[in-house]
Amino acid sequence: MSRATEQLVYLVAAVLFITGLQRLQSPATARNGNRISGVGMLIAVVATLLTMEIVTPMVIVAGLLAGSAVGFWMARTVQMTAMPQMVALLNGFGGAASLLVGGAEFLKSELRAEQIPLDTGITIQLSLLIGAVTFTGSLIAWAKLQEVMTGKPIVFAGQKALSAALALAVVGLSVYQLMTAESLLWPFYAVCAISLLLGILLVIPIGGADMPVVIALLNSYSGIAAAMTGFVIDNSVLIISGALVGSSGIILSNIMCKAMNRSLANVLFGAFGAAGPTKSLKSAAGLSVRSVSPEDAAIQLAYAQNVVVIPGYGMAVAQAQHAVREIQELIEKRGGEVKYAVHPVAGRMPGHMNVLLAEANVPYDKLRDMDDINPEMERCDVAVVIGANDVVNPGARTDTSSPIYGMPIINADHAKSIIVLKRSMAAGFAGIENELFYNPRTSMLFGDAKQSLTKVIAEMKQL
Ligand code: TAP
Repeated sequence: MSRATEQLVYLVAAVLFITGLQRLQSPATARNGNRISGVGMLIAVVATLLTMEIVTPMVIVAGLLAGSAVGFWMARTVQMTAMPQMVALLNGFGGAASLLVGGAEFLKSELRAEQIPLDTGITIQLSLLIGAVTFTGSLIAWAKLQEVMTGKPIVFAGQKALSAALALAVVGLSVYQLMTAESLLWPFYAVCAISLLLGILLVIPIGGADMPVVIALLNSYSGIAAAMTGFVIDNSVLIISGALVGSSGIILSNIMCKAMNRSLANVLFGAFGAAGPTKSLKSAAGLSVRSVSPEDAAIQLAYAQNVVVIPGYGMAVAQAQHAVREIQELIEKRGGEVKYAVHPVAGRMPGHMNVLLAEANVPYDKLRDMDDINPEMERCDVAVVIGANDVVNPGARTDTSSPIYGMPIINADHAKSIIVLKRSMAAGFAGIENELFYNPRTSMLFGDAKQSLTKVIAEMKQL
């Protein structure tokens, strides 16, 4: 393949990546967007392997089949609640690939005693640093979410100073490597080792439930590392795809932070959750909680005209999305209207609720963003809160001492009646009590959300 053809094929792949990304904007076109980007990646990989003549066509086909089989198996078997871990692992592999390619290019030049041009040298050093940090950081993120290690922030005295000193050491060693005329291997190995350690140190102080933000950030790092590697091996499609991943990851991190009313610095260095769930509601003393039976909940829902379902992390845990859709259909059969209010950080990853509801074939036009549904909440007859907690906590509006103060919430408390499905009075991710549960218009339907909804469905069918 000539250089011109190669560049043209890369351009086609880049256009497919961008078209795919653009289609990820809406749940209705997201699957198709994913496929389009996948085709772009396939074209880019095959073109690279053919141009570089690294392996024979047979090996390319064998690699594609093996990779597709593993990818297919992973995508089919991963639990929805384990999705963040899987993304963390994939980011880690991306970082490791950049580290290996950058390292191989460096060692190849050293072995051939070739002088590495300064610009290539800089991008090699960046590939090593960012690739290594992404690799070990992502493995720690995976281990925390998979509960292989504690999900709580691990903090020790002098941690930030140690990380800063190691980061400075990497920069110093990289500059030394670039400036020295001698052929030295030890600074190279030292940069790799310290960067790997840095990745661990940067992620251990972050609480397990903040990990989705970190994963988006590591995703961004893996993109930047790939773009740097693209410069090293002069591969334009790697530069373009790396830049796309790098920028989208940082935009996503920013969106999540805004939706939680936290700064990125607070997520990275704030050790959120280190103290454990402590905060109790001052006003809870003397207040009582009203519980409701599935029969009574069924009656309320059967006669409601305007129902808003507010899903949260507990719906994902209970896998209650199919039962939710069934209730929606029963209410609609009786002439009521059902909408779903989706908070941007409900669950544990961006779009978590949208994906679950789509899996249960809930029509996209029933989903409402927080800003769209909130003005309508006063007209809502019943707000059904399914395994959501922090995202409906009115304390976020008023309690200045709350860790979620200022976080925009879905105004479930503005509804005429509220039914909350959860197993106990336990706190959500932020570890704080929720005054919504003590609201006189709130009834608690205790139990696993799927089991409770199944009982409500059975009751509704009898009415
Ligand atoms: P949470 O506040 O975490 O509350 C989830 C609730 O679900 C818990 O109170 C739990 O109560 C209940 N639950 C768990 N398993 C259940 C089951 N099987 N059946 C019924 N209920 C169950 O969830 P949320 O309201 O979705 O808020 C998300 C939180 O995660 C926010 O604080 C957000 O800032 C944070 N966060 C989100 C993201 C993204 S991107 N989504 C990223 C980082 C952090 P019981 O134990 O009593 O059942």
